[in-house]
Amino acid sequence: MELPFAESWKIKMVEPIHKSTRAEREQWLKEAHNNIFMLKAEQVYIDLCTDSGTGAMSDRQWSAMMLGDESYAGANSFFKFKDAVTQITGFNFVIPTHQGRAAENVLFSYLVKPGNIIPGNAHFDTTKGHIESRKAFAIDITIDEAKDTQLEIPFKGNADPKKLEKILEENRGNVPFIVLTVTNNTVGGQPVSMANIKEISALCHKYGVPVVMDSARFAENAYFIKTREKGYENKTIKEIAKEMFSYADCMTMSAKKDGLVNMGGFIATNKQEWFDGCKAFCIPFEGYLTYGGMNGRDMNALAVGLDENTEFDMLQTRIKQVEYLAQRLDEFGIPYQRPAGGHAIFVDADSVLTHVPKEEFPAQTLTCELYLEAGIRACEIGYLLADRDPVTRQNRFNGLDLLRLCIPRRVYTNNHMDVIAVALKNVYDRRETITRGLEITWEAELMRHFTVQLKRLG
Ligand code: F0G
Repeated sequence: MELPFAESWKIKMVEPIHKSTRAEREQWLKEAHNNIFMLKAEQVYIDLCTDSGTGAMSDRQWSAMMLGDESYAGANSFFKFKDAVTQITGFNFVIPTHQGRAAENVLFSYLVKPGNIIPGNAHFDTTKGHIESRKAFAIDITIDEAKDTQLEIPFKGNADPKKLEKILEENRGNVPFIVLTVTNNTVGGQPVSMANIKEISALCHKYGVPVVMDSARFAENAYFIKTREKGYENKTIKEIAKEMFSYADCMTMSAKKDGLVNMGGFIATNKQEWFDGCKAFCIPFEGYLTYGGMNGRDMNALAVGLDENTEFDMLQTRIKQVEYLAQRLDEFGIPYQRPAGGHAIFVDADSVLTHVPKEEFPAQTLTCELYLEAGIRACEIGYLLADRDPVTRQNRFNGLDLLRLCIPRRVYTNNHMDVIAVALKNVYDRRETITRGLEITWEAELMRHFTVQLKRLG
């Protein structure tokens, strides 16, 4: 008999989590204005808010922390971290930052001018925010197939070369770079194929436009290339990652995801001119060039994390857990963005809560229902997150309305996945009785989903 699959690690340290009663959760959610970001972590049983900075570090990472060099300039921890980045990406110039959005802030301060057009395969919200706040335009060039949640294709995160070429042709001299996000978080943690990376890169370079890779989940993307794309079956994750980066001119990284650390980020490139340009913004925004917002011990842990998370077994353990949850949802017929993504399952709230009108935010309503059911904190990636149109101030209802079940790395077991699946099934089974959603009582102008206050209707 073939041995079943199991995790590629064992557990050395644990942290207690607590269940609560429905009455307690009713009270806490009311106090949090029906916004899960305003809950206290101790009011949550299973936390699927994000996979960002919420992973468990290994014993090797914790021991590397003890050797951190906290020198202001030229710390040996910086060189360890820089060497790890260079080895994995092939980029020689490395600027540390405190997280991914800080890397975007430094790079875009140097590169983005008002009126610029910056195409990308569904820019993450902070990426888009950093473009739009500089009065430039982020244009989505993700393939149309990504919008059909039930369509199963292997590389649903791809960019569309036809959409890109049209933009490059019509905006010559006004596109400072494009952003290729691997994996594509916004459309469901869906990967980008090597063939697509190659084609998009060649197209950009034909027009003299550099490619910036938003690499938050580059290792998960490399895993999907290895397991789904012809010709890569026998390559290692490190070889695949190196090839992915060889088509890019620069990368920004939120190390809180595939770097396996709780805080950190960086920019890396081989373009001397960009490196020099970024230095001028790193120093005032982040800190001196050899720490840029990270402690020495954090850079040590990141060097180890990057190495560990570009090993096949580690990624297989992670992605198989996400697939396991997807299989449980399949058993119950719950619709989600197919196939399962790298870091999360995105449940199609619009087709679950069919009686809740879009004006009453079905995905946010489902997020609240799941919390009330079992103390599980998922998050809305839908109409609230989409914000209002900056000109008309109307809600943007043209995208998908999803509930994201985001799985932290090396934190929960498949027993937790079972609890999540059954809790969602219980909500799903009573979906016909949920006819009213939520109304906004207070909202911020930009990135409202973090602080929005809502009232339950009905
Ligand atoms: N790029 C992508 C693709 C991301 O998913 C994120 C963060 C960032 C950039 C920004 O990085 O948080 O370190 O500043 N995503 C988190 C999430 C917050 O929950 O998906 P950061």
